[in-house]
Amino acid sequence: MAELDGQAVEVFARRLLDVFTGSGLTKLIGLGYRTGLFEAAARGPATSTALADRAGLDERYVREWLGAMVTGGFFKYEPTEGRYTFPAEHAALLTGSGARNAAPVSGLIESFGAVLPELERCFHSGGGVPYSAFRPQFTNDMDDVWRRIYDEHLLTGFLAAVPGLTEQLTAGARVLDLGCGTGHAVNLMAQAYPASRFVGYDIAADAIDAAEQERVAMGLPNARFGVLDVTQLPATPPFDVITVFDAIHDQVAPDVVLRRIHDALRPDGLFVMVDFKFSSHLERNLANPFAPLHYAISVMHCMTVSLAEGGAGLGTVWGEELARTMLAQAGFGSIEVIDAPRPQNCIYISRPVNDETPDK
Ligand SMILES: C[S@@+](CC[C@H](N)C(=O)[O-])C[C@H]1O[C@@H](n2cnc3c(N)ncnc32)[C@H](O)[C@@H]1O
Repeated sequence: MAELDGQAVEVFARRLLDVFTGSGLTKLIGLGYRTGLFEAAARGPATSTALADRAGLDERYVREWLGAMVTGGFFKYEPTEGRYTFPAEHAALLTGSGARNAAPVSGLIESFGAVLPELERCFHSGGGVPYSAFRPQFTNDMDDVWRRIYDEHLLTGFLAAVPGLTEQLTAGARVLDLGCGTGHAVNLMAQAYPASRFVGYDIAADAIDAAEQERVAMGLPNARFGVLDVTQLPATPPFDVITVFDAIHDQVAPDVVLRRIHDALRPDGLFVMVDFKFSSHLERNLANPFAPLHYAISVMHCMTVSLAEGGAGLGTVWGEELARTMLAQAGFGSIEVIDAPRPQNCIYISRPVNDETPDK
């Protein structure tokens, strides 16, 4: 056996320690989020007793949690006073209802971990873990992550980035959102653009129920939702705009869905697909700080839910090159990719082949 480079071993041991530490802290982020500890700590410096009182929790558990928070670099500690401080710059990323609050991501990662035994079986024998194994928890966690992103970025970020779209929606358009989940994007759009009519489809009945409840609560006559497997999307009546947020790469038959989207658009229609901004080539993702987490999410969710049904298993990191190829194969004659308001996403702006396009 070749002699080991001791320094390289040391460096990698440090890296492994960081990874295991991150995994433990991810779970404690989830606990801090769900118990209200982060919100309570953001109200000002406190001893463990005061913080436990503030949050209505057991002091011993809070103190041990704080030990991890201090040594993990989340909180500061003053030993003479026994006081813990949650710096405002850190609280900005773990509290509040805005898109900057990353704490809900911990819930998604944790719930993916629940299927590891089934996933291990797939490593041996192929196949996948179906969507049903992730629900209903997935529906809630996905909503918790994306709701705040839509609130902050949908109208002024994602939609505003697409040339002419805001004007089109203001004037009045027929719009479809596929894989709409709990429908918050549709409801926000319907509220902002009363002259347009919106439809949201998802295969998950629990998500569509939540979407419909929110629609009623918001009093939106110009939106509706339905349970539909979008591989069955009819071509009529045609839509002016079709949107998809993070819901193509986990499809069983993404090629069929893209073709259906193409066929359900008017010839001058617009397809807006928000997805993750990666290359289809691993070697081009090496410097992308989002890559390891998204490959992991792909293994634990996006790829496996598709493979479970004998599907394509594109995965979260299917990437721009493959996406462009598949959009072209679905018939889109014009495909543009632009940056999104969040650095981990990009926006594909595609239009159907028009009558002048020779290969139609
Ligand atoms: C990653 S989630 C994104 C949900 C939503 N766009 C959001 O941002 O919260 C993907 C969604 O696509 C839905 N989906 C997957 N395959 C589908 C299909 N064949 N027909 C309809 N919806 C589907 C799932 O149920 C899930 O809600």
